[in-house]
Amino acid sequence: MDFIDLKTQYQRLRDPMNARIQAVLDHGQYVLGPEVAELEARLASYVGVEHCIGAASGTDTLLIALLALGIGRGDEVITTPFTFIATGEMIALAGATPVFVDIVPRSYNIDPALLEKAISPRTKAIMPVSLYGQCADFDAINLLACNHGLPVIEDGAQSFGALYKGRRSCGLSAIGSTSFFPSKPLGCYGDGGALFTNDPELAKVMREIRVHGQDRRYHHPRLGINGRLDSLQAAVVLTKLDCFEDEVAARARLGARYTDLIAEAFAGIDDPALRVATPWISPAQTSVYAQYTIEVEDRAAVEQRMRERGIPTAVHYPVPLHLQPVFGSLGYGSGGFPVAETAARRVISLPMHPYLTEDDQARVVRALFESVIGG
Ligand SMILES: Cc1ncc(COP(=O)(O)O)c(C=O)c1O
Repeated sequence: MDFIDLKTQYQRLRDPMNARIQAVLDHGQYVLGPEVAELEARLASYVGVEHCIGAASGTDTLLIALLALGIGRGDEVITTPFTFIATGEMIALAGATPVFVDIVPRSYNIDPALLEKAISPRTKAIMPVSLYGQCADFDAINLLACNHGLPVIEDGAQSFGALYKGRRSCGLSAIGSTSFFPSKPLGCYGDGGALFTNDPELAKVMREIRVHGQDRRYHHPRLGINGRLDSLQAAVVLTKLDCFEDEVAARARLGARYTDLIAEAFAGIDDPALRVATPWISPAQTSVYAQYTIEVEDRAAVEQRMRERGIPTAVHYPVPLHLQPVFGSLGYGSGGFPVAETAARRVISLPMHPYLTEDDQARVVRALFESVIGG
């Protein structure tokens, strides 16, 4: 069993995918070619915003967003400690200081109730992450941000396609950002990403930063990066978009089914040390389950027993950002963010992709039960 199966999807899309890729090879505009403009238009319409800017990776989109907002040395950006390194890393690489705020248990997203305390005169933005496929609580975050005149950047690398109160991830704040890394809900065959905004000036600036800060050929009013999207990757995403809605529905169905199967399997277990916590999805939202992540008490044992039973698992993420060596100089210590630290000790992700069969899921949950109970 694969943790994420990309081959079945390719078999489904083989002919249109090959044709799209061949078309790029034939026209030869390999970087920012016509597929990139076509993809940007389709994604903007899908998300429901005015502007989409394709970029070279989800990491680059975060940096481009921060630079476009003029964030740099001496500034602070509030974010979650429970995320992939890129979120905090790009804040620091832009020259600013990440300020961490703890998360909500079982949604794993930043806790809006704790945000206000973290705002200082140096705060220049809030960057929530929509982790595992469910958006952070944007109404609460936007309200607070608006009261303090702060822009919000959504790191939607894991949540593209998810709905928050009927609106799409990446269209919920000043700037939305996503990743097309192959394992993401909407992935390409290499690196890629995209930015979303309704603000025409921000869109223009982000387009310039994507190409070395240039507003016309070899004329550079600002600093930027090489953050361009390849035409081949855009062609791959365009092809996958044709079945994306199907896949988003399958992900939601499979995620809910995992939760039901786990509840059933563990129904008779009273010992708290043997209980499994499943994800909490708000009734006002959908998740695209970039990961289906649960919590167990003895994770090391469960990982090993799952491996022995032929079931791959992964840990997203074992060390929260405030305890990463690279952020040691920020002065956070153990115990600083107890919810994130507990999650980092307990979380484990199960195989998840839209082509998982019911039999696969039953096998995973059977192995999980045996692994937790100690077989
Ligand atoms: C939450 C989050 N932010 C940012 C990124 C960076 O995206 P990329 O790998 O496309 O640079 C990822 C991807 O792993 C991610 O999960």
